[in-house]
Amino acid sequence: MNSEFKGKRVLLIIGGGIAAYKCLDLIRRLREQGAVVRVILTASARQFVTELSVATLSGEKVHGDLFDLTDELEIGHIQLARDTDLVVVAPATANLMARMAHGLADDLATTALLATDKPVLIAPAMNTRMWEKPATRRNLARLIDDGVRTVGPNEGFLAEGESGMGRMAEPAEILAAIGQCLKAGAGALAGKRILITSGPTWEAIDPVRYIANRSSGKQGHAIAASLARLGAEVVLVSGPVALPDPQGVRTIRVESARQMLEACERELPVDAAICAAAVADWRVEAEAGQKIKKKAKSAPGGLNLVENPDILASLSRHGAHRPQLVIGFAAETENLIEHARVKLTGKGCDWILANDVSPARGVLGGDENTIHLVTAGGSEAWPKMHKSAVAEALAGRIADHFATSRKAAE
Ligand code: C5P
Repeated sequence: MNSEFKGKRVLLIIGGGIAAYKCLDLIRRLREQGAVVRVILTASARQFVTELSVATLSGEKVHGDLFDLTDELEIGHIQLARDTDLVVVAPATANLMARMAHGLADDLATTALLATDKPVLIAPAMNTRMWEKPATRRNLARLIDDGVRTVGPNEGFLAEGESGMGRMAEPAEILAAIGQCLKAGAGALAGKRILITSGPTWEAIDPVRYIANRSSGKQGHAIAASLARLGAEVVLVSGPVALPDPQGVRTIRVESARQMLEACERELPVDAAICAAAVADWRVEAEAGQKIKKKAKSAPGGLNLVENPDILASLSRHGAHRPQLVIGFAAETENLIEHARVKLTGKGCDWILANDVSPARGVLGGDENTIHLVTAGGSEAWPKMHKSAVAEALAGRIADHFATSRKAAE
């Protein structure tokens, strides 16, 4: 039995999708771990699983009707939504996500979601085309901005006989994500100071022009938010991005690689540093004081480039102030693991999150990422996940790392 589950109350909202059947297994696993599970079955979920099976497995009365007088007299929908440690929505259908994103409260499930003051975790599940529709992307982005956490979906076999993105995370994965959320409540990273770089850097050519790259900062910003939710004191040093500053994070905005390094060094010492920024490798040796004229002899062929400082390498080799854990990214288009391993030793960091950024993958600027976690001990492939799910998984791993090193020191 894991202590993060023991005696914890989970309100599970089962949505109307074929993956609803997996929730029966999830309820069983949660109870095995010592959690108390209350369930709201939506009207369409009742087409997929029965109230009797849910009640039998949960050992609790199943809720479903907003206007059930007996229910209201016994517990009341507001209390049901608040008298819990976590709300889990599985499967989170496209329809349920849309209603959540817009704050609708037209049945017991959405009313509870609007009324709750507790963390919410969703396990989306739908057909690939529905998952990829701009409307669903917008709803998901809004939910993430509102602080909703996600687990999955995964790529795989779908009910319609097709294969693709949209399969609900497996019960074991959802259980692990629930464990992370419950740990978050207890502040698994409380007392830890973590530095993270994110976004691109801009290297000025003259007062109006600069060298940049396509990094959106989505992954780095999501990691900062996840770490803050686990109770860490997070300092985010961000290049120019079109994202809002994450909640609960101190954000320092910079433009160039040199400014980014300076800001990072000013924040030392920290317990962990994560370099997720796509730092420009090169800068223009001498930025022109005035806008370079079209006809000027020195441009563009005459741009003289010099190498930028490597922030990851310099934090990894920082002597007395080296963070206990230094993590870098490796964006590669071929021989992912090999290149990541070279980077791990070359830069002297502890973990590398390697991702394939071939244009066909749509990682740069996109919402999803396929990660291989490379450490001195080996490598581990993670399923294709939303960047926020990657962030949650990484934050969980960092919390586990500190918990293990704390135990070893005791
Ligand atoms: O060498 P490469 O740019 O592929 O390495 C990627 C990793 O190194 C990322 O973690 C990135 O944030 C970090 N990096 C850095 N400073 C640089 C270049 C890369 O921190 N100048």
